[in-house]
Amino acid sequence: MTILQDLESRLATALESVVGEPTRGPVTPAADLRFGDYQSNAAMVLAKQRKTNPRALAQEIIDKIDLSGLATAEIAGPGFLNFRILPEAFASRATAMLNDEKLGVPNIGAGKTVVVDFSSPNVAKPMHIGHIRSTIIGDSLGRVARFLGFNVIADNHIGDWGTQFGMILYGWKNLLNHDALEVDPIAELVRVYREVNAATKDNPELREECKNELVRLQTGDPENTEIWLRCIDLSKLGLQKIYDRLDVHFDYWLGESFYNDRLGSLVEEFLEKDLARVSNGAVCVFSGGTKKLEEDPFQVHREEGWVDNPSIIRKADGGFLYATTDLATIEYRIDTWKADHVWYVVGVPQQLHFRQLFDAAERWGKSCDFQHVAFGSILGEDRKMLRTRSGENVGLIEVLEEAVERAAAAIAEKNPDLGAEEAAEIAETVGIGAVKFAELSQNRLTDYVFSWERMLALQGDTAPYLQYSNVRIRSIFRKLEQPFDAANASIVLTEDQEIHLARLLVRFGEVVPTVLDDFRPNLLANYLLELARAFHSFFEACPVLKAEGVTRASRLALCDLAAKTLGKGLDLLGIKVPERM
Ligand code: ARG
Repeated sequence: MTILQDLESRLATALESVVGEPTRGPVTPAADLRFGDYQSNAAMVLAKQRKTNPRALAQEIIDKIDLSGLATAEIAGPGFLNFRILPEAFASRATAMLNDEKLGVPNIGAGKTVVVDFSSPNVAKPMHIGHIRSTIIGDSLGRVARFLGFNVIADNHIGDWGTQFGMILYGWKNLLNHDALEVDPIAELVRVYREVNAATKDNPELREECKNELVRLQTGDPENTEIWLRCIDLSKLGLQKIYDRLDVHFDYWLGESFYNDRLGSLVEEFLEKDLARVSNGAVCVFSGGTKKLEEDPFQVHREEGWVDNPSIIRKADGGFLYATTDLATIEYRIDTWKADHVWYVVGVPQQLHFRQLFDAAERWGKSCDFQHVAFGSILGEDRKMLRTRSGENVGLIEVLEEAVERAAAAIAEKNPDLGAEEAAEIAETVGIGAVKFAELSQNRLTDYVFSWERMLALQGDTAPYLQYSNVRIRSIFRKLEQPFDAANASIVLTEDQEIHLARLLVRFGEVVPTVLDDFRPNLLANYLLELARAFHSFFEACPVLKAEGVTRASRLALCDLAAKTLGKGLDLLGIKVPERM
């Protein structure tokens, strides 16, 4: 049980005895430590309902609540209850954490399956900066959910069946450089795609030829099917290399084409069940009329008033669309995987698509907790779209390469004695960690400004700072003559800095679940920064190796726990820690 849960349950017992029936009151972490660690407005809420004096009611609650061994309480302002946790409560919980692999994180996901749909790039198109965000955020949410006990299925819903294949097939047959394909298949496919795409702009015949190639693929032409399969294989190999480098893993890669066989019958089913009807030759899903106009994704407000805003699931020419595939995907995930939750980590521009999709799926009877985990854009320091040094739009690989290069330069300067191999390994861990942390420490919905200097700084709100903190803590243990036995240690707290460090350590179990409340890894990222700062203040104020007896053992145990908690927290963000830096 976390401290927060313990407080809530003791408060509930007190409220019940004051009110005479089971009553729960919310407890939240206090915004400012001067007022205590936690607070509750339960007395004010209840007093309003019962039309009594809130401060008097708060006093009654304080008289009844049993806080022994945990906290002290006082009334503040109009009737807030402020709780200050006792150092011995922090100490006993921190001691218990020394033997807990989960570091106090509760198993709130047991028995629940969540599908995380993330990364999901399009085959033979460059992976752009939006895919970076999806990959990094999605991976972290999956890690957090897994640690909370959910059964997590990471699914890479790659775009392997789009209209881009018309152009790629044409390019493959007419423009492909086979040597370049050997060297870097993704780059060559992207080059071909870009070239054909540009050429079609003012060439209607070429557009027609590409369209014909697409139709041949869609109708099962063997040559085109073979080329298409090769493109997918080559792209997957290239993508896998990036994912390995990022330490990102998928359980499945069920791309769009996986659902092709189901699309025709699905559209028929929608027509039969009156979930869709034909309009101008196309099959469209319209409003179910179950929502208020303002909340109905199938309605838009125009000058003339509210008008239909349908989602097309079969074009007049018989072609299926993104929405059709996504409906089939939902069915598969619910029927085959028994998903309780599906999280789509996709940029803000697809918001309408997902609102329509979720609404249509629910009317279809496929119910599940669907979430569009949206994110904003990444901007350059000029606040425009991010570009590389050579002025191009930034792809994922370029960002990683540059981050690692810059980290290597910084490391060479700081620690010139490292061997080449170790230095390269550290640069990889630091560079990639920095990119991930810059992403995850932001509120996902705000557009954030990408700054190399800021994200790689050793003394800032950065991954390198956290990695360095972790390395520094672990180096303490290398100085010991005998290995330290944390499992049998016990933590005693006297100095303010020790108390504060323990306060943050035991909060880990409260912070991790909050990441999933609104899909905000930045809550964990910010907590880790606060934890690292608390560690450094503690380490400055409290001698560890020079201390003696019980104090020394307790401080070593605090160090051990700080290293484990920082390490685990970074792991939940998908960030590794080097042995040395
Ligand atoms: N391939 C899409 C894109 O790059 C993202 C797919 C997201 N997942 C989904 N089930 N629609 O924009």
